[in-house]
Amino acid sequence: MDREVIKVGMLGLGTVGSGVLKVLEQNRGDIAGKLGTSLEMVRIAVRDVEKKRDPSVDRALLTDNPDHVTDDPDIDIVVEVMGGVEAARRSVARALVNGKYVVTANKDLMAQHGVELLRVAGMNGKNILYEASVGGGIPLIRPLKRCLAANRILSLMGIINGTTNYILTKMSRDGREFGEALAEAQELGFAEADPSSDLEGRDAAYKLCILASLAFSSRVDMADIHTEGISEVKLRDIRYAAELGYAVKLLALAEETEKGLKLRVNPALIPLSHPLAAVSNEFNGIFITGDAVGEVMFYGRGAGSLPTASAVCADIMEAARNIKHEVENGIVEATFGQKPVIPFLEQESRFYLRLKAKDQPGVFAQLATAFGNARVSLDMIIQKRSDAETAEIVLVTHNVAEGDFAKAMAEIRAMPTIKTINSILRVVENQGG
Ligand SMILES: NC(=O)c1ccc[n+]([C@@H]2O[C@H](COP(=O)([O-])OP(=O)(O)OC[C@H]3O[C@@H](n4cnc5c(N)ncnc54)[C@H](OP(=O)(O)O)[C@@H]3O)[C@@H](O)[C@H]2O)c1
Repeated sequence: MDREVIKVGMLGLGTVGSGVLKVLEQNRGDIAGKLGTSLEMVRIAVRDVEKKRDPSVDRALLTDNPDHVTDDPDIDIVVEVMGGVEAARRSVARALVNGKYVVTANKDLMAQHGVELLRVAGMNGKNILYEASVGGGIPLIRPLKRCLAANRILSLMGIINGTTNYILTKMSRDGREFGEALAEAQELGFAEADPSSDLEGRDAAYKLCILASLAFSSRVDMADIHTEGISEVKLRDIRYAAELGYAVKLLALAEETEKGLKLRVNPALIPLSHPLAAVSNEFNGIFITGDAVGEVMFYGRGAGSLPTASAVCADIMEAARNIKHEVENGIVEATFGQKPVIPFLEQESRFYLRLKAKDQPGVFAQLATAFGNARVSLDMIIQKRSDAETAEIVLVTHNVAEGDFAKAMAEIRAMPTIKTINSILRVVENQGG
């Protein structure tokens, strides 16, 4: 079937939707040349059709009923960029059942209902393309599904939330406290008015669900991912980490070991010599190790109107190619198994601990004994500063199980010589872990 025009409908015309219109318009000729077919946007669903919008938007395309897009028999490809989960799930399923390809940027939707929706797509001989759902404009989904497909992926480690990376960069470079850096990020539009999903690590965990499922061909749920955010990270720890040769980053980590999958999102010290330590401001970076390819890294803007639209439009083009060449159900993920996930308390890490103790002889020995009793071996123990009565101590452990570290901490918290436990952070070394 040689189609001269492939018709596109869109759900949502906010940050990403507006970017999609712009890219399709500014690169119209190039896109048509590459496809041998032109793309035409024929209908766009929004919440409020009366809202003020960019004057270039053709208001005749707008509707406040998503079904006018998903049910339109002329539309071949439905682009879901409205966000949220339930309404998006309903509309995406409806579009698939109506025989349309779906392109989405919605990580929450794909992390929670991706497997089910991909099944609906398969049953209808279509596909869902979701490159923009993780890492904005950075190619990640397609490289994992295709370019790295022949590898056994050993580990994946990434900075996949721009808001938290911006805040941590401001803290480390400009000496801002967490609250100040957050306010600045909000002013500049790098953090939302309600930034809790970013700060608590949930946004990164949703993205890790999607990446880890693809990397390990296994269904990964949010509940499998131990998630901690950055609101407890103190400027003092960022400074001490730098003195020890580390940067502090919110890291998403997925690793396949003999015991199962290790999955987590938490702030961590990462050696300054690691390429991820240089990923600054709102940028994202993802470091993947495969058994054949070795180490590869992806870097770029993980959000924003045009970067995200770059990925959405590439997916629209892929769907258009499938339609033009009548490829049915070409690349739906064939199988997602269910690999075991290592229970949190058995997952191993190195730990950085900062505490305050009474400045008296024997405290180091007591700490060493408490760690020894829990089979935790120490890599370093440093007295940072002290006043007349209090000593500030920083410790770094070797690799230990979370459960053993928690046991040692219970004993240390109960010691009369310990005044406060100020910070506990994980430490990542250059070879994953
Ligand atoms: N922003 C980014 O940088 C970025 C990056 C990667 C992925 N994403 C994902 O892309 C999606 C869209 O994000 P965004 O930042 O573009 O959101 P946004 O600016 O809030 O825009 C949402 C759009 O959807 C419309 N909408 C919302 N609910 C609707 C409903 N029930 N029916 C019809 N229309 C509805 C809104 O209509 P009105 O215009 O009338 O309000 C608006 O046009 C989300 O899933 C997000 O996670 C965003």
